[in-house]
Amino acid sequence: MHPNSLTENIYWVGAVDYDERDFHGYSLSPRGTTYNAYIIKDTKVTLVDTVKDTKTETMLENIREVVNPEDIDYIVCNHLELDHAGALAKIVEIAKPEKIFCSLAGLKSLNGQFDTTDWNIQAVRDGEIISLGERTISFIDGLRIHWPDSMLSYIKEDGILFSNDVFGQNISSGIFADGVDRAMMTHAVKEYFYNIVLPFAKHVPKLLSNILKAVDTISIIAPDHGAIFRTQEDIEYILNLYKDLAEQKPKKKILIIYDTMWHTTEKMAYQVGKGIKECDPAIEVEILSVKSNHHSAIMTALADSGAIAFGSPTHNNTILPLMSAVLTYMKGLKPQNRVGACFGSFGWSGEATRVLTEALSEMRIPLVSEPVKMLYCLDEYGTESCIDLGRTLGKALLESIEKHKDSLNA
Ligand code: FEO
Repeated sequence: MHPNSLTENIYWVGAVDYDERDFHGYSLSPRGTTYNAYIIKDTKVTLVDTVKDTKTETMLENIREVVNPEDIDYIVCNHLELDHAGALAKIVEIAKPEKIFCSLAGLKSLNGQFDTTDWNIQAVRDGEIISLGERTISFIDGLRIHWPDSMLSYIKEDGILFSNDVFGQNISSGIFADGVDRAMMTHAVKEYFYNIVLPFAKHVPKLLSNILKAVDTISIIAPDHGAIFRTQEDIEYILNLYKDLAEQKPKKKILIIYDTMWHTTEKMAYQVGKGIKECDPAIEVEILSVKSNHHSAIMTALADSGAIAFGSPTHNNTILPLMSAVLTYMKGLKPQNRVGACFGSFGWSGEATRVLTEALSEMRIPLVSEPVKMLYCLDEYGTESCIDLGRTLGKALLESIEKHKDSLNA
């Protein structure tokens, strides 16, 4: 059997990008990534998705190992973002495929990004089935996770679900999940979910339910990034992890995010952390400087946190710029079910805590207490105020955990 076989006559023909560190230009990918594409050798030789343009030759080499690229009859485009469609124009030029399949929304993406004048494109709907000869592909609407065009493809005869970005992870160290360290995999799935999928988390339960309704059996889940899940244990693991991440039930951890100029706000952050531990030593505390931690790493840390505190000194009547960047990024990702607090030092006007309060309000993260402001240096009263803020935040988190437990049990 070919080392890249998923099953008889179905092959991984994608590309490993060991050097990718800036996934899509906004999210760290410290382990690199892969762009997965797949060949199905049937009466209609079918390519499912392609790769980033810089990896076109690699994909062609991998295709040539199993089939002549000119013999490709069908191309399925589950999603037209350029990490999956970057090699599309080249492979269409070589293969001159009889048909290119995409979702209805995918038509817009295809026509917007490529000269499709001579392309024979067929838009497919949720539930539509095409025949490849011995096999069929049925299409499942991706419910806008994470582009309007996103869809999944299922081969009933082999029980293979090509899930595109859904269930993806930025891992470059193995084609199959059973060869990947589980703790690293879990971190990578959280990282991907919290930086790519999170704004659409509310659609995930329906998508999971639609997948289970649409498929008879799942033997393999083959995403377009990272490792492929091919054991029942791994399939259950990734479905359960997605369910858990989508629910965003508050976890017993608090993130403290801060920036600082002359270290007063930094000292405040550590006192808030002390207060949280006084409330309950079992609450995990993670204190992250925005100078030392990328915005995507902060989002990944949020996956396990049910509460968040922000601290910034006042600078030019507002907050420091790196904190603004983190807040803008986090707001777009729409985290849910968190409680929050804010604090900051100032010398003159002290607008930072108001700006932080407004940012939390825009994210619908309720403040558990009035912000703590500190003029110049952290004094005894300020220290106690920060510790008290930490205690209050810890208590609010424990209540929030209870509340969400009740709401799930109701
Ligand atoms: Fe993997 Fe949305 O691209």
